[in-house]
Amino acid sequence: MITPVIMAGGSGSRLWPLSRKLMPKQFLKIASENSMIQETVLRLSGLDVATPLCICNEEHRFIVAEQMQAIDALGSIILEPVGRNTAPAIALAALSELNAGNDPVMLVLAADHVIENEAEFCRVVASAESLAAEGKLVTFGIVPTHAETGYGYIRAGAQLEARELESKPLDAFSVDSFVEKPDLVTAEGYLASGEYYWNSGMFMFKASRYIEELEKYQPEILKYCKASLKHTSNDMDFIRVDADAFAACPDDSIDYAVMEPLCKAQGSDSVVVVPLDAAWNDIGSFSAIWDLKEKDDNGNVHQGDVLSHGSTNNLVIAEQKLVATVGLDNCIVVETKDAVLVVNKDNVQDVKKIVEQIKALG
Ligand code: GDD
Ligand code: MG
Repeated sequence: MITPVIMAGGSGSRLWPLSRKLMPKQFLKIASENSMIQETVLRLSGLDVATPLCICNEEHRFIVAEQMQAIDALGSIILEPVGRNTAPAIALAALSELNAGNDPVMLVLAADHVIENEAEFCRVVASAESLAAEGKLVTFGIVPTHAETGYGYIRAGAQLEARELESKPLDAFSVDSFVEKPDLVTAEGYLASGEYYWNSGMFMFKASRYIEELEKYQPEILKYCKASLKHTSNDMDFIRVDADAFAACPDDSIDYAVMEPLCKAQGSDSVVVVPLDAAWNDIGSFSAIWDLKEKDDNGNVHQGDVLSHGSTNNLVIAEQKLVATVGLDNCIVVETKDAVLVVNKDNVQDVKKIVEQIKALG
């Protein structure tokens, strides 16, 4: 049985002012009546999975517990005293399973993705489970549509033997290279070559296999994560780790810390990519929300009390006031109780710079 590991410690700063420190985007209802983390768990209903193991910052513990309880999926929740990115987060999840005498296939999921074709997603995951059980580190590849610099890129190598499951065979390839967040020119080259997938940011592997690779490539991260779990305290469903040990852990993502060096290693055939064609969307920025939502005849997406004249291709979200646009094109306008954001759709990646400015102001 697969154990879902839900990574829910991100800050979602590119979605400010919707996403806030105390309520980051994974806990918001962005694409449906459920929050993004709830959707992440609900879409697994077609799979044989254990209760999910969530891992988040301790200041969000009650939000996670409440939202999981509301969908009958409350399991253990590992609390990070500080964010150290995804490589340590996944290490804590894997080590806590191993410490409990288990070595499950972990389906590591971001808590903030939209996947419209859930049946296809479940089919691909179920088909790939045996690869993970055999010791492969499975990545899920998305056919890229543009030269996105915020994603990882996976170059597929030789095809693995075809596996028949249910109606369709599973395609799986070895991985020739894994490049996290390339610059624009490199990303454009990858796109033009047609040889690369986007890394979906979801992974599937046995707990012990992740720890083995972490030991090879990031022994420091492993050391501090092990130390963090030496003195845990459990209350309710929460697992609290040693704050000093975890604070000392290097900060890095699984992509840079493990996947890149592992795929670079000569003769490494332990990473595989399984193509996923399930209308996946990383709601990384406001333009992704615009992409996802149904538009009016002028290409506008309006949420709340919004009027417009001669305006095209905008996303306007009005939470408290009437918001009106005239002659506005290709923009995002977000009005909330205490902040208003106006940004050109081409600059949405830089919304996080505003959050940095707010932080600097204290
Ligand atoms: N528990 C925990 N702790 N979770 C975290 C932390 C942390 O310190 N940092 C991030 N997360 C969670 C986020 O909430 C999100 O669900 C997931 O881990 C991925 O983190 P992001 O910060 O959103 O990563 P990214 O989008 O920049 O890049 C990743 O995803 C892309 C696809 O969406 C990479 O895997 C890329 O290669 C990939 O293309
Ligand atoms: Mg992301």
